Amino acid sequence: MNIIGFIGSPHKDGNTAWTVNKILESAGEQGANTQVFNASELNIKPCQGCLACVKSGACAVSDDMRLIYAALKTADALVLGSPIYMGQMSAQAKAFTDRLFAQITPRFSPSFKEENAGKKLVLVWTQGNPDGEKFKAYLDYTKQMFAMLEFDVIDMVVVTGTRTEAANEQAGLGDILNRIGARLAASQKVTSTEQENKAITNITDSDNSELERVKAELAEIKRRFGLDKQEEFLKTHANITLKEFCVMLSGRDCQPNLTPDERLLTEQRGFVVVYGDSDDRVEFEGAVTAEGHTNPLAKDGPAGVLVLSEDGKLIDEDSDLYAEYVKKNRNVVNVFYCCKEGLNWVFESNIPHETFLTYDGGYDEELDDIDNGFARCMVFEISELRA
Ligand SMILES: Cc1cc2nc3c(=O)[nH]c(=O)nc-3n(C[C@H](O)[C@H](O)[C@H](O)COP(=O)(O)O)c2cc1C
Repeated sequence: MNIIGFIGSPHKDGNTAWTVNKILESAGEQGANTQVFNASELNIKPCQGCLACVKSGACAVSDDMRLIYAALKTADALVLGSPIYMGQMSAQAKAFTDRLFAQITPRFSPSFKEENAGKKLVLVWTQGNPDGEKFKAYLDYTKQMFAMLEFDVIDMVVVTGTRTEAANEQAGLGDILNRIGARLAASQKVTSTEQENKAITNITDSDNSELERVKAELAEIKRRFGLDKQEEFLKTHANITLKEFCVMLSGRDCQPNLTPDERLLTEQRGFVVVYGDSDDRVEFEGAVTAEGHTNPLAKDGPAGVLVLSEDGKLIDEDSDLYAEYVKKNRNVVNVFYCCKEGLNWVFESNIPHETFLTYDGGYDEELDDIDNGFARCMVFEISELRA
């Protein structure tokens, strides 16, 4: 276990330094590797907000923070100490915290780096005031903020009353810090799923009402644009088979006109719908969008032999690949125009598929002209295409 300490006080050997070092010493005795950084000896500038780190992944400011970035990469834990200054963390500790942005951002941030999440954190505060509850709201908030950054905050120590009694003179404090150090050295890294669940819980706990408001707003937007019905449709048909999908399309006009929901479903399921509508045009719709042309005058034989690559692109008729695929009968769709089954179009293929019938103007229930179809069309799965 690699642990780094940061002492955010101008006093090299002050209360904060003594407290942080005590925890590190104890963790070290339990076998942890420890390294301490003391703000009083380092040059750490405030964040310049240039966002170079978002673009390049590295902080553009050239100062001693570079040493800490390097150590943080392999650190499993951080002990962050700060004196309370005017009811908050010191400027040194705040500069350090802001500069963490180059490596550690919240999960919802575009520059979130999963590999840096889940580091253990012990927060150390020292204050002149003897009342440990005095700055509770701020300390709890800060703890929550570090949890949002996906530190696993395992302890928070508040050393009080240093104005009258220095930390190293306070009876019993050393033992408490020893226990915290030992606990830190023994702590286990959480899995990324546990970490993610924790992060979600943190956000929820900290801002439940805001979350509810956003949820309600989202539900209203979905309702207004009919997306709630779309979700329901996709959920209901999540496992639809080719055959069932063909039943859904049977009886439509020669241009089956997939609804937006059906188009989404075809993309999700990887279905490709093939149909002919005008006298020379063959359409591929769904997981593949392409338009093929044929020679509609060809009689008693295929008016066109369309060939697809494995990713659903139509292969050019003049290419060597086309000739090779036709020879091997690979990904071939034979297109018959006005010469089979009394239909305008019939599609045949070695690609596993199911078929459906379209009707000129759609199937008329009153006429019950079941035999008067326009085209026998097909649906196949894009995963059936081979290289
Ligand atoms: C500028 C300044 C502001 C301070 N503000 C507070 C404060 O708001 N509340 C408090 O309890 N102590 C305050 N203190 C006292 C320090 O928090 C306390 O002495 C601390 O233990 C110093 O830590 P160090 O020895 O590591 O520097 C302040 C001290 C300074 C110098």
